[in-house]
Amino acid sequence: MKERYQLFYLSRLAPGTSPTYVAEIVRAARQRNAEHGINSLLVFDGWRFCECIEGTDTAVGTLADCIRTDVRRTDFTVLHQGEAVIPLRLGGKSLVYALSYDDSLDRFEQARGAQAIALLAGMLPTFDLEP
Ligand SMILES: Cc1cc2nc3c(=O)[nH]c(=O)nc-3n(C[C@H](O)[C@H](O)[C@H](O)COP(=O)(O)O)c2cc1C
Repeated sequence: MKERYQLFYLSRLAPGTSPTYVAEIVRAARQRNAEHGINSLLVFDGWRFCECIEGTDTAVGTLADCIRTDVRRTDFTVLHQGEAVIPLRLGGKSLVYALSYDDSLDRFEQARGAQAIALLAGMLPTFDLEP
């Protein structure tokens, strides 16, 4: 079992799903992530998500399967999956929620692998993070 595994994906809110569901997703995910030893960063820009999930490969794989089949989202593009190349410093939080107010997530459409994680780490200070 790999202890520090990372999955970084890009996804979109499903058509017809109100952005108000995101608060409920965050609330439930915080609790579940804590129970499964997962730390994550979820960024939402009003219609698109990106999320970087860190944990054991088993826990991350199980969660990825749940998110993939979640009807509240559509499209699921994996940008990076594997050993945690660049650990995001999330202060041990189960889910850090961040808002992006511009088209910053466009930059992930082409980025892949460690380069995508490095891009995310560099953009972290530009997001509106929950205190
Ligand atoms: C964009 C998005 C991100 C999500 N992130 C998480 C997460 O980090 N942790 C989590 O437990 N559930 C997350 N969820 C919810 C899961 O898809 C799923 O509803 C939850 O894990 C419960 O799964 P289950 O009902 O199959 O047990 C997310 C859902 C969406 C749409």
